[in-house]
Amino acid sequence: MADNVKKQTRIELLRSQIREHDRLYYVLNQPEISDQKYDELFAELKKLEEENPQFITADSPTQRVSGQPLDGFKSVKHSVPMLSIDNTYSAEDLRKFDKDKICKQLGDENYEYIVELKLDGVAINLRYENGLLKTAATRGDGKTGDDVTANVRTIKNIPLVLSVEAKSISVLEVRGEIYMPNASFAELNRLRAENEQPNFANPRNATAGSLKLLAPKITAKRNLAFFAYATGEISEPLAESHQQTLEKLKTFGLPVNPNIEKAENIEQVIEICNRWNKKRFELNYQIDGMVIKINQLDLREKLGFTGRAPKWCIAYKFPAERAETIVESIDVQVGKSGILTPVANLTPVQLAGTVVKRASLHNFDELDRLDVRCGDTVLIEKAGEIIPQIIEVKKELRPKNTKPFEKPKICPDCGEKIQIIEKKRTGKKEEIAHKSEFTHTYVCVNKNCTTLLKEKLNYFVGRGQMDIENLGEALIEQLVDSGLVSNFADLYKLKKEDLLALERIAEKSAANVIEAIEKSKNCPLSKFIAALGIKHVGSQSAEILAEEFGSLEEIKNADIETLKNTDQIGQIMADSIYEYFHNEKNAAVIDQMLTAGVKPKQTKTNRSDKLAGKIFVITGTLEKFTRQQIEKLIKENSGKVAKSVSKKTDFVLAGTEAGSKFEKAKKLSVKIISEKEFLEMIR
Ligand code: IVH
Repeated sequence: MADNVKKQTRIELLRSQIREHDRLYYVLNQPEISDQKYDELFAELKKLEEENPQFITADSPTQRVSGQPLDGFKSVKHSVPMLSIDNTYSAEDLRKFDKDKICKQLGDENYEYIVELKLDGVAINLRYENGLLKTAATRGDGKTGDDVTANVRTIKNIPLVLSVEAKSISVLEVRGEIYMPNASFAELNRLRAENEQPNFANPRNATAGSLKLLAPKITAKRNLAFFAYATGEISEPLAESHQQTLEKLKTFGLPVNPNIEKAENIEQVIEICNRWNKKRFELNYQIDGMVIKINQLDLREKLGFTGRAPKWCIAYKFPAERAETIVESIDVQVGKSGILTPVANLTPVQLAGTVVKRASLHNFDELDRLDVRCGDTVLIEKAGEIIPQIIEVKKELRPKNTKPFEKPKICPDCGEKIQIIEKKRTGKKEEIAHKSEFTHTYVCVNKNCTTLLKEKLNYFVGRGQMDIENLGEALIEQLVDSGLVSNFADLYKLKKEDLLALERIAEKSAANVIEAIEKSKNCPLSKFIAALGIKHVGSQSAEILAEEFGSLEEIKNADIETLKNTDQIGQIMADSIYEYFHNEKNAAVIDQMLTAGVKPKQTKTNRSDKLAGKIFVITGTLEKFTRQQIEKLIKENSGKVAKSVSKKTDFVLAGTEAGSKFEKAKKLSVKIISEKEFLEMIR
């Protein structure tokens, strides 16, 4: 018993230390311990909780991510409506707002403004009760939003528990913006492109998409973040001014954007807006304007609301950043999986904080749609102000005698004939809108294309994969061209002398490369799988495979059916994985790597054994889950899923419109259960 008390005390101490370090890191930007030390505290807590599950509480820092997929989003009625803000677009508009809407109403009152960044993400209402995060809801129509608590809990800078001062406040609703930092957005789109999924058009769409995922585990990987900028329902007043309110929220452990300025008059407001219009590209997240608010809360009350927006607040929207330039030439690039992409070389032009020289045309369909030609004057914009893209061709300025771009018939690098794969288009509204019904992917299928090999090796050694430092593009080029490396396994056969024989490689850097290669032998399984560059399998799918199967052996031996039944792995990916591991050459290269000492670290799965040994057949339309989700749940609880009903079946899980399987189950007296009964079995 005493031992238990000791453990519980230690668990609680670790939790409060971790929370305090989270606050120092995320709110004050002043970490006091190294990442390594933090990870150690976290690992100790995780281990203690695993050994003593009776002490796990929902507010523990380890409990951010729930493994269970959601069955949809409940509606939440906002107790205080989430209003929008009226927009202005010029200094003139702002002066008018100040004169007609504020000055006139407030008369002699001495008012001041607070000017904040207008964060371009998704508005959220966080409801804390006695300091504990209870619900997180989207704005929705302002009156009712979606309950996205499980996803929001995964956002690391949102405290699950506020600091002690906030414990006595029975209701504290904090409002703010969830956003995706630019670098995370770029990385997400890179991964999506790798998996041949359509790109998100901008970080806001990516944020909205991430909050609406039914798998919090995936949301957790999207690297979302939060800034608080207002309150909703509060059971007691916090302060007299907006500035003080934000300070209070900070002391409670909530992240508040540091770029907040007080302005005595509207001219100062305009100066701040103009300054940020130029400076906004220095931020590592997106803003689309500024928000100007009256600071004193009693004056806000005097001013009141219109139906949809408060009268004490106005937004100033930045003008869209576009530039005109000329297409000098169009290149065709070969990617890691052999996919050919057209890229436009532009006359360099300043746009949204950088000089743009190139713009991706995404694919040949897009090039066709826009009919971009060499010599064309084009309008470029940064999608979400990050990736430059051509949005319009000024056909009236087109020089005479231009011809449509001739699409490649051969690979620009190896000269072999290419393949064109035609597919029916899929995609969602929030993703880039396309025109024609089919997509055409141009691929170089020449396995001996050295460009392809170099691309594959570059990817293999890259960050997020084998992470072999010091082995850069130039060295890979030399290794391939000299014939020293013709597959991944060859990297593990390299000796220092081999490298020294190459041009411009000094003793020290050769030693560093060999050491980095050696170090990579103990990589995590997920990274090894990702590094192989299996078609359609990006880092996220690799992580899922590693987690679900636990070892390379298991993945290698899985049949298509088993792969397909894995969460998030569809038919196309399952076929591709199976094909990859059953290709003799690939299998030989993997064997050689293993023989050379590569030892992908196995990952542990968090399975429960609530359904151990039980065989389920699913029939009819389920109300709350997709087939995939329910199959995942069964497997996560160690059950099995079969396609047809037999005497061996333990349960038939029946939705509405259940057909012949239902009848067969009755005939064989197999137990038929509803979704609700199923959920009870695993709860
Ligand atoms: S205050 C009623 N402050 O802009 C006022 N909103 O276009 C409550 N937004 O829905 C909001 N940055 O999602 C406020 N610093 C900021 C903001 C901000 C972004 C968003 C918010 C709102 C939208 C209105």
